[in-house]
Amino acid sequence: MEGGAQTWHYGLIAKWWAEFNDDFRPHEIPYFQRHIEQGGEPALEVGCGTGRLLIPYLRAGLDVDGCDVSADMIALCREKAAREGLSPTLFVQAMHELDPPRRYKTIFVCGAFGLGSTREQDVRSLRRFHDCLEPGGTLLVDIEVPYADGKLWRQWLKDERAKLQEAAGRPRSLRPASDGSELGLRTRIVELDPLAQRVTYELHAERWHNGQLVAEEDRILNIGMYFKSELLLLLEQAGFDNIVVQGDHNDTEATSHDDFIVFIAQKR
Ligand SMILES: C[S@@+](CC[C@H](N)C(=O)[O-])C[C@H]1O[C@@H](n2cnc3c(N)ncnc32)[C@H](O)[C@@H]1O
Repeated sequence: MEGGAQTWHYGLIAKWWAEFNDDFRPHEIPYFQRHIEQGGEPALEVGCGTGRLLIPYLRAGLDVDGCDVSADMIALCREKAAREGLSPTLFVQAMHELDPPRRYKTIFVCGAFGLGSTREQDVRSLRRFHDCLEPGGTLLVDIEVPYADGKLWRQWLKDERAKLQEAAGRPRSLRPASDGSELGLRTRIVELDPLAQRVTYELHAERWHNGQLVAEEDRILNIGMYFKSELLLLLEQAGFDNIVVQGDHNDTEATSHDDFIVFIAQKR
C-alpha cells in the first residue's frame, strides 16, 4: 500500500503489464494525443503505469509528465523511456495526494480512476486535478461503465452473488517474457458490494523459468464503480465547467452502447 491507495500494479503484475500491455486498446493513444496536440501542453498523465500512452507521446515530442501510485510501474516506465533515449518527469504519487512540480493545460487519466481508492479519496482526486490545472485547462478522465462486463454485472443480483465461489486457480497459460522467463496471470472476482458499488478482485501471478515455478504473488484490488451521472455531479462539485461525456475514445457523444466513457471537463 502506497499513498493510502491499494492497487495491484506491483512486482510480477507490474512486470506483466510492462511486458504485455503495450498493445492493449490502441485507439486510446491517438484519442488523448489529439487533445494534447490541440494546445493542451504541458500535460500530465495520472496513473501512467509503464507508459503505454506516455511513451508514444514523448516519442512524438509532446511535453507530458507522468505519475503513478506504484513505484514499480514508474521504475519500469523510466526504464522503457530510457531505452529510447527519453527522460520524462515521472513521480510516484497517489492521485488524491497529487502535488506535481508544475501546473498543466491537460490532465488525463486512462484506466486508473477509482482503482484501489475510497470514494472520499476519489472526491479529493478530482479536487486535486482541478487545483493542478492552469486556468482554462482540461481534465480528461475515463471509466469503464459498471454494466460493461456481463459476468460482473450479473453479480449485482443477490442470487448471483450467492453463487460467487470462483475457485482460486492457477494461470491457464504462460507467456514468454523478454528475459527468457514465462509469466502467467489469473484474476477472479471475490466480492461485489452493489450498495458500495465496489468490486474486489484477487490476482494471482506466477513466474516460471526452465519449467520451474520461481515466484508467485497474490494481490487484491478494489475498484469503485461509477455511473455517468454520479461522476458528472462529482466533477461539478469539484469546480469543473462545460463537462461533456464522449463514447469509447471516439470523439462522439456517449451512448448506452459504450463500455468506456470519457469525461472532458474545463477549469474556468
Ligand atoms: C490499468 S493501469 C493503466 C495504466 C496506463 N494509464 C495505461 O492506460 O496503460 C492503472 C494504473 O493506475 C495506477 N493507479 C491505481 N490507483 C492509483 C491511484 N490512486 N493514484 C495513482 N495511480 C494509481 C496503477 O498503479 C496502474 O499503473
